[in-house]
Amino acid sequence: NRPTSNIANVYRGTFVHSTQQTALQILEDELLGVDTDGKIAFIERGAELDRLSRTFGFSPTEVTQLAQHEFFMPGLVDTHIHAPQYSYIGTALDMPLLQWLDTYTFPVESNFKDLKFAHSVYSKVVKRTLRNGTTTACYFATIHTDASLLLGQIANDFGQRALVGKVCMDRNDSVKHYKETNQESQEETCRFIAELLNKKYPLVRPVVTPRFALSCTAALLGQLGTIAKDNNLHIQSHISENKEEIKLVLELFPESESYTDVYLKHNLLTDKTVMAHGCHLSDEELVLFRKTGASLSHCPNSNISLCSGMLDVRNVLKHKVKLGLGTDVAGGYSASMLDAVRRTLDTSKVLTIQNPEYDTLNFEEVFRLATLGGSQALSLDGQTGNFEVGKDFDALRVNVAAPGGPIDLVQCKEPKILLEKFLNLGDDRNIVEVFVAGRKVVPFAEPTTE
Ligand code: GUN
Ligand code: ZN
Repeated sequence: NRPTSNIANVYRGTFVHSTQQTALQILEDELLGVDTDGKIAFIERGAELDRLSRTFGFSPTEVTQLAQHEFFMPGLVDTHIHAPQYSYIGTALDMPLLQWLDTYTFPVESNFKDLKFAHSVYSKVVKRTLRNGTTTACYFATIHTDASLLLGQIANDFGQRALVGKVCMDRNDSVKHYKETNQESQEETCRFIAELLNKKYPLVRPVVTPRFALSCTAALLGQLGTIAKDNNLHIQSHISENKEEIKLVLELFPESESYTDVYLKHNLLTDKTVMAHGCHLSDEELVLFRKTGASLSHCPNSNISLCSGMLDVRNVLKHKVKLGLGTDVAGGYSASMLDAVRRTLDTSKVLTIQNPEYDTLNFEEVFRLATLGGSQALSLDGQTGNFEVGKDFDALRVNVAAPGGPIDLVQCKEPKILLEKFLNLGDDRNIVEVFVAGRKVVPFAEPTTE
């Protein structure tokens, strides 16, 4: 007579993840149970099968055994991605940031007033990122409230965990029709938040999104800080991406001591804030991040593609600032977080070429940034980021030797080497299944709302 089980699935095999203490913990022949709410009920040695099956009331015959060359890792966390910019991904990278925004980005984003166009692009970006193993995404949409709500709906339908931001900008001198009045921006932000929360999507949350200091009046920045505070919401924006941008910000906000101080003065630096880039932040500014609990999103593909700069990740970690990785589609030309991992390693190696004393990042550290680090940067580490009991089961089932995949020779069975190979040369063909909160979201079950 077994107790009524609340265990939905049990997996046995190799699990790799990061913890507070170690960048890479490898658990071989481990058992992980997922309960009917999608949470991790236990993660213990395989030898404990009999006891666990009695305690949790499941049959040992129901256990799913991973194959050779397979392992589970936590889902990837993309801490910064522009969903509308997926429409021109892989093109238009021939200009520095500010000209790139005026020439390509603002004109394209203004088209997302059209909900049909928005639906088509947003479905594609959510599916592509999920297939690439992004279980959590922190999205910028556009200034259009209804299209931004649609992005939330699509993420929910496909089962992706998401923070979704309706972009706020009441200043734009180049594309005059792509901006809001101050009042519109405030009112529409409040409508967006209320309507998205009202949907009660379990995994999708609104994030207050001033585009960046140059797109917003001081009044709007202050109002958005208040809205975030009153509703206890996440905040996202951009900071210190490019030198020209920094110069203009300091001219526009002469009473501020630094770019970081602009956001600080408007109550936009909180422990639920994530700022993209930060390539050129001073040590004093990093101290402000640390003190407020605000985090950074490192987007190396974008930083190189737009010739913005190279973030010194080691220095950010030394300052104990929370840090995750982002694709920054489409300043970045890849929607895969595996690319963000590789570009992070590349950038660290370029810094080492420039200064041989530099403490180069290793792949284990970058693996942590792409998973647990990202969840911490988004203040979602209570729910996701690794395989701790009580967290949601957000996971990738990886087969390093997947037939038809990019990896031909797998001579070694050592999990650490398998992970390194996957991070360096794997792709979506190696990601055989993706789970978010225990639900299998890849391969897709097409939603009925198409
Ligand atoms: N700064 C303000 N807007 C943007 C954007 O869309 N992309 C990037 N990379 N930086 C920005
Ligand atoms: Zn961005």
